[in-house]
Amino acid sequence: MLACFRQILNQPSIAIDLGTANTRIYSGRGEVFREEPSLVRHVRQDQEIQAPDDYFSYLNNHLTSSPLRGGVIVDIHNAVSLLKPLLKHTRTGLRQPVSLACAPTDTTELERKLLAKAVLDAGAAKVAIIPEVWAAAIGAGIDVTLPSAQMLIDIGEGVTDMAVIRDGRLVFATATRTACSDLQKAIRSAIISRHRVCPTPAATERLTHELAALRQGNDAAGRDIPVQGMDIIRRRQVKIAVHSREILDAMAPVLAKILKMIEAGLKKLPENISCEVVESGICLTGGGSCITGMDSLIAANTSLEVRIAPDPMHSVINGAIQTLDYWKEKENWWENIAWPSIPA
Ligand SMILES: Nc1ncnc2c1ncn2[C@@H]1O[C@H](COP(=O)(O)OP(=O)(O)OP(=O)(O)O)[C@@H](O)[C@H]1O
Ligand SMILES: [Mg+2]
Repeated sequence: MLACFRQILNQPSIAIDLGTANTRIYSGRGEVFREEPSLVRHVRQDQEIQAPDDYFSYLNNHLTSSPLRGGVIVDIHNAVSLLKPLLKHTRTGLRQPVSLACAPTDTTELERKLLAKAVLDAGAAKVAIIPEVWAAAIGAGIDVTLPSAQMLIDIGEGVTDMAVIRDGRLVFATATRTACSDLQKAIRSAIISRHRVCPTPAATERLTHELAALRQGNDAAGRDIPVQGMDIIRRRQVKIAVHSREILDAMAPVLAKILKMIEAGLKKLPENISCEVVESGICLTGGGSCITGMDSLIAANTSLEVRIAPDPMHSVINGAIQTLDYWKEKENWWENIAWPSIPA
């Protein structure tokens, strides 16, 4: 009976990683973890256009959008629609959950307020926000209390976030709102403009995954890669051959932007921290780190040792869970977590 009462009165705590491509939510009670694409479908099944046309069935399947761009909310209404059903499962008894959410280090106060509002409107009672690179470092197994500098780069769907952590503090951080989605956009545009075919999202995503194979090219001439998509003039599904050179050329400016940010960040580090980073190397997290060849590309450009975290796609949420475990026994913990001032 007493246990039942305590269950009803105890405030549940949850950790949220609201990413541009994927939303991960962990509920402390019952240790339930959920991961969903950050997508809101715009056509309900009963509203689908019933036409015997490939083009319309393609539209029916692809009329979705993410309420986030570059790691931040751009559509609060859809962000709440996305979070609401996920938060519903974390509610216990009468109590709404208190939550720990993560945001990129370059977010403005307004963007973090919008994130807090979305989480509250979706059903949380309180929300505290921490930098997602901080969570990623903990989730990657980095000892953030070490007195020597550790560097982490999280390459996600919409944002590439880079930070140096030392003595339990973020001593440097920089970010660019360029990441995997920009690689995919660049490839899609290149294929549309050359072949008049809009590749399926799955085909575009698969092309970005093979950076290493594409860069090696196996031979200087490259190779043709089969790509499925929608012929936008004839309005039917087709399979075309796209040359690996076209894909590499499309990706090049996006990769250059990410590498430039890393190079500029490294140049800004004070000499002592720079020396420590040379010793410790770079740890990569986020979906972008799973692109085969991304680690060697960054290593070649920085002359630093680059390693990929053990579970790179879940480093942020794993770190947020560990942070939550640390805080949740403390009274009113959400009031004691402030966004740090981050030297850039
Ligand atoms: N095995 C893989 N190889 C290459 N890329 C992958 C792989 N798995 C996922 N990705 C890419 O990772 C991206 C998603 O990464 P992630 O889940 O870290 O983003 P996010 O956290 O939602 O975004 P952000 O943190 O930027 O808001 C997708 O574009 C996907 O194509
Ligand atoms: Mg992320």
